[in-house]
Amino acid sequence: MQKQLKKRLEDIRKKGNYRRLRYIKPITPTQIMYNGKTYLNLCSNSYLSLHTHPDIMRAAKDVIDEYGAGTCSSRSVSGSIDLYRQLEKMIARYKGYRRGLIFSNGYMANIAIISTLTDSEDVIFSDELNHSSLIDATRLSRARKVIYKHRDVNDLEKKIKRERSTGRRYVVTESVFSMDGDIAPLSDIYELREKYGFHMVLDDAHGTGIFGQKGTGVEELFGLSGSMDVHMATFGKALGSFGAFVLSDEVVINFLVNRARTFMYTTALPASCLASAIAALKMIRHNAGYKDELWKNIDYMRTHLNAAGFDLKDSFGPIIPIVVGEDTKTLRMQELLMRKGLFLQGIRPPTVPEGTSRLRLTVVRGFTQEDMDNALETIIHAGKKMGLV
Ligand SMILES: Cc1ncc(COP(=O)(O)O)c(C=O)c1O
Repeated sequence: MQKQLKKRLEDIRKKGNYRRLRYIKPITPTQIMYNGKTYLNLCSNSYLSLHTHPDIMRAAKDVIDEYGAGTCSSRSVSGSIDLYRQLEKMIARYKGYRRGLIFSNGYMANIAIISTLTDSEDVIFSDELNHSSLIDATRLSRARKVIYKHRDVNDLEKKIKRERSTGRRYVVTESVFSMDGDIAPLSDIYELREKYGFHMVLDDAHGTGIFGQKGTGVEELFGLSGSMDVHMATFGKALGSFGAFVLSDEVVINFLVNRARTFMYTTALPASCLASAIAALKMIRHNAGYKDELWKNIDYMRTHLNAAGFDLKDSFGPIIPIVVGEDTKTLRMQELLMRKGLFLQGIRPPTVPEGTSRLRLTVVRGFTQEDMDNALETIIHAGKKMGLV
């Protein structure tokens, strides 16, 4: 086995696609220490910079005294700590759904939704750029998979019309695509749902806390709050904590409690995660200013990167892909930026399609004007050197 794996690793390395872990330490909400040097973190999903907010950290510390460091068993076997009920009610109300169920993370929540709710006669229509957790979930499901072109409602409709199966039909999409930063055409898909009567499953991992007047997510942006058949998102991005949730009605949630294997056969989240998520949710419900500060930074960064001539795809929101193309060129650009104190990752296949390797830059609320100006100057300089602009 080792011999074969070594050979495969060598092939990966030759393609410029080899990954190694970088061990870092956070210093401030936006800076990290790596190999003894300070970097501006340009790849955090803590969009509202809440993961180091004193009130949120305090909430986590306080409950450890009361509940301990871990739960040490699954929710089904040893009882759910009461913080679960509080958070499930809060998140369902915040997003306009009847019931909520918390999962240990978004990957497991997506596996649960798709593999548990679908059956062998069913069909899943999935956007071609859906997150790997959704792809793996469809692989685990016994339903048939139909991939439609990215954000292409005409292609989706064509494929729905062509489908002859008698089972249920599900359309699954991310709201904000995690590697492209663009938005799913939710209103158009919703119109198709009215016409064809399928079930709509939305992953709002990167929309929650950011989009819409109240910041409840991308559904709010389209005037569709609470209208998906199944909604999923995480506490581990803008909310600065950890864990994920599924929102739906009573029947769907009870079914997941009874049949979702990634819910039933895993240790429950520690109280500190739940308490920090509760604190973060209270904070963003009462403070839309955080979201507005984030959007100011997003607009500033995108406007200047666009003006410089980078290919940012159709991104809108805090995820800004800077498309480079080749894997090795992407790595060279990443190294140039790292040398100048910018920490961000080159994203390569299989995470993104061949030939579209990119730097995935994320904008957060905590950036100062100086952070952004320095980052822009460095990126534009490197972009010129690499012939990207
Ligand atoms: C769109 C999307 N869905 C699901 C997940 C998985 O969530 P988690 O990190 O909580 O497992 C992620 C990334 O982490 C994501 O980007």
